[in-house]
Amino acid sequence: MESLSWVVLATVISLLMFKLLNHPPGRKKLPPGPRPWPLIGNLNLMGPLPHQSLHELSQTYGKLMYLKFGSTPVVVASSPEMAKEFLRTHDRIFASRPTTAAGKHTAYNYQNITWAPYGPYWSQGRKLFFNELFSSSRLASSEYIRVEERQAFLSGLHARSGDPVVLRDHIVYMNLSVISRIVLGRKYFSKSTDEKEIMTFDEFKEMLDELFLLLGVLNVGDWIPWLGFLDLQGYVKRMKALFKTFDRFYDHVLAEHRARMDAEGEGFVAKDMVDVLLKLTEDPNLEVKLDNECVKALIQDLIAGGIDTSSKTLEWAMSELIKQPLLMKKATDELDRVIGRDRWVQETDHPNLPFIDSVLKETMRLHPVVVFLAPHFATQDCKVAGYDILKNTTVFINTWSMGRDSDTWADPFSFRPERFMGSSIDVKGNHFELLPFGSGRRICPGYSLGLKILRTTLGNLLHGFNWSLPGNMKIEDVDMEEEFGLTTYRKSPLVVVPEARLATHLYK
Ligand code: HEM
Repeated sequence: MESLSWVVLATVISLLMFKLLNHPPGRKKLPPGPRPWPLIGNLNLMGPLPHQSLHELSQTYGKLMYLKFGSTPVVVASSPEMAKEFLRTHDRIFASRPTTAAGKHTAYNYQNITWAPYGPYWSQGRKLFFNELFSSSRLASSEYIRVEERQAFLSGLHARSGDPVVLRDHIVYMNLSVISRIVLGRKYFSKSTDEKEIMTFDEFKEMLDELFLLLGVLNVGDWIPWLGFLDLQGYVKRMKALFKTFDRFYDHVLAEHRARMDAEGEGFVAKDMVDVLLKLTEDPNLEVKLDNECVKALIQDLIAGGIDTSSKTLEWAMSELIKQPLLMKKATDELDRVIGRDRWVQETDHPNLPFIDSVLKETMRLHPVVVFLAPHFATQDCKVAGYDILKNTTVFINTWSMGRDSDTWADPFSFRPERFMGSSIDVKGNHFELLPFGSGRRICPGYSLGLKILRTTLGNLLHGFNWSLPGNMKIEDVDMEEEFGLTTYRKSPLVVVPEARLATHLYK
């Protein structure tokens, strides 16, 4: 009996020792993750496509992982349940952004909405965007711009019937034209150097490409702050150079708008977002005062947020469809049945085109262009799924990984839009398995505009043209390799040949 007591006592002491060694009192219980190296942490595990590296790691460490990027704590959520914890259950705590060199140098010192910390400036800006741009009535009043630019886009493709086209360039041109006219009042770029404008379309596109690359890079100084001053990769130098080009452009736009404001005096009526914002710089009743720098930063948000995301999503959708002619046929059958051959798809047609909608959802499942959402940031300590997430932790929601999770999706690697037919899953942040626009307080404020552009552009690309691959290229030759950035896109641009499907007068 006595010896049994000793055995029990020894077991209890061993168990206590084990627990204490693993979780001493006061020591935090962090989510599982790979052991970090001194100085670099786990940065050595990040390949050129970090979302894929983190997906691989999540297969070992689970749907909630803890890593160190340099000296910075990072948590990665890779399942709908974990995403919900950060974006709904503890939304307020994780609604801020980390401070990065990109936010500092390209966004006027965190004065746009995307990089602004959670607080009154950010919330005032979002309200402004909703009231002045994204409310149903504002979206209805800017519809004529989208219709005009879409018509120009379809005419441009018609003119190239039978020729190989780099689809991406045409879509970006249309999106840039739409956003410029809604936000800036007109296009400030020309198609060629012959026209007198501050820059050409190609120069503008170059500027945007550089912006998106720099917003997505793993900049060493962000993760190992004391090394920041060395700018080892040269990214900060590039950010500063890019900032100067953007700033010159915005100065030009603001000067033109201010001149009209001064000339019209009392009778001045705001015609675009820049007018609205400039008028607000004179409003003494704003909760947080706006100055010229804020105006430029807020314009930057709309230019950056509105163009690349939808262009890249559409390029992925067309790439998937060109690889599956049967799906393309199913889509055109729906269009012929619902729209008919004597008109284009309009924004109001969307509820009647469930297959086109399913193609878009399936595209956003397999190719969510903002793979990690924008990084979220813990403003206080918090418990998530029984683990401690410490204040100042950066949070990545890996939507790319979530779209490939066999616990959530049957046959996750196949592009099968039919899975969404009759399904109640939407993309507006209510269903955590599909989060192309995020969810919660930081959900993309431009999602309704983005969806309008996506739905009608994809509908009309398929309605207006038959698509084939150039020369002897075969379906198997269409690779789906990715390039990482704040938006993740096809490494090689999709080149396809349009052939008109509708009567010629419709393209005029
Ligand atoms: C296909 C189209 C689009 C996609 C996939 C998309 C996706 C996203 C995502 C994932 C975020 C980050 C959400 C988060 O941090 O949790 C975001 C934020 C944002 N988007 Fe979009 N977006 C699109 C269109 C637009 C448009 C058209 C605009 C404006 C013209 C826009 C402006 C913004 C802004 C300003 C933010 C920052 C919001 C904040 O930090 O509070 N986006 N978007």
